Amino acid sequence: MPVTSKPEPLRLGLAGLGTVGIGVVKIVQQHADMISARAGRAVVITAVSARDRSRNRDADLSGYAWETDPVALARRDDVDVFIEVMGGHEGPARDATAAALAAGKDVVTANKALLAHHGHELALVAEARGLALRFEAAVAGGIPVIKALTEGLAGNAMRRVMGVMNGTCNYILTRMESAGLPYEQVFEEARQLGYLEADPNLDVGGIDAGHKLSLLAAIAFGTRVSFDAVELEGIGAVSIDDIRLAADMGYRIKLLGVAQMTGRGLEQRMTPCLVPADSPLGQLQGGTNMVVLEGDSVGQIVLRGPGAGMGPTASAVMGDVIDLARGLRIPAFGRPAASLAAPVAAATTAPAPYYLRMTLLDKPGALAKIATCLGDAGISIDRMHQYGHQGTQAPVLIVTHKATRDDMAHAMGRFAATGVLVGAPVAIRIEEV
Ligand code: HSE
Repeated sequence: MPVTSKPEPLRLGLAGLGTVGIGVVKIVQQHADMISARAGRAVVITAVSARDRSRNRDADLSGYAWETDPVALARRDDVDVFIEVMGGHEGPARDATAAALAAGKDVVTANKALLAHHGHELALVAEARGLALRFEAAVAGGIPVIKALTEGLAGNAMRRVMGVMNGTCNYILTRMESAGLPYEQVFEEARQLGYLEADPNLDVGGIDAGHKLSLLAAIAFGTRVSFDAVELEGIGAVSIDDIRLAADMGYRIKLLGVAQMTGRGLEQRMTPCLVPADSPLGQLQGGTNMVVLEGDSVGQIVLRGPGAGMGPTASAVMGDVIDLARGLRIPAFGRPAASLAAPVAAATTAPAPYYLRMTLLDKPGALAKIATCLGDAGISIDRMHQYGHQGTQAPVLIVTHKATRDDMAHAMGRFAATGVLVGAPVAIRIEEV
């Protein structure tokens, strides 16, 4: 009888033993047989690394070698795949990832910041050496969106990629609406619930979600990651008044990422937008994520799921690990990194309707002056609502027909000279979804 040798196990080195790292340990330990059956070989952790060995981590790590230095872990002979779940786009995460590739190891990372800043150069290094760089967990947590784009939708020219990809912001915005609370109060609640990153601006400033969008845009449009070209605006200026008035008009406000290739170049935005309240994006509640993918053949796909947390993020890491155990090797951005084009950033945005809220002096001709500013900029009014009077002032809400951001800025730049405006107007793009 021929003797068939058992395939060698795939050996993992795990750098980072926070929530995600421990989630990976749990899956590897609890589902060893299932993973081995699916991958055709065992997947084992051989060594781990974290700063503080004495911390109680609610997992049995006794069978693993310990390295305090992740770079040393990355270079170990008994590690085939280096898993980086430490975070941070410079320092140990970058050094250890580079060291792993230099030592000939495949890399799986959950680090969106690292990839948004250095993804192209890391992918070039990996591919020049025949190694894999995988990052499913970096975008929208447990939603397998990278796999959807690089595999399932590989036969499509992508038209547009959209998403709510920061659960903390979506929690804050939906809680403001449901409880009728101002931003500052809900921000404080989110802090107390532990939802915010150590640097809250990563969440509420749109940076974390912008990192994710830049990675999806690179895959969808075959361009080098260009996080610096993402137009970023956080949710700090979204008021409860706008949330209420938008709801009256049939919309919800979301921190929405949109990437599309236009005739003017690649447009990437992560900004508060209005979306129809009855659309899938409008219906998205709490900390959940949603990614909308539009391809020329498939049409629109909507993926919804948990964007963070131990189980969902570890699930995505393990999806990548099991692909590597199976021998499935797809370039990091779905095509060779050396073939990714330098993106030309679109100088302006595709036209869209705008929500425009302002307070006017309640006197004859006030509204006409504002309408003239809009008309002179080529902007037509779709709907309008005046909310009674507050003394000598009148709150006014206008929904415009499609306009470019530049036209809106031009029109709004002329509002002050009318002498009828009280305070600053608010303009929010309405994304057609
Ligand atoms: N802080 C992120 C969020 C999770 O709230 O979605 C990690 O990217």
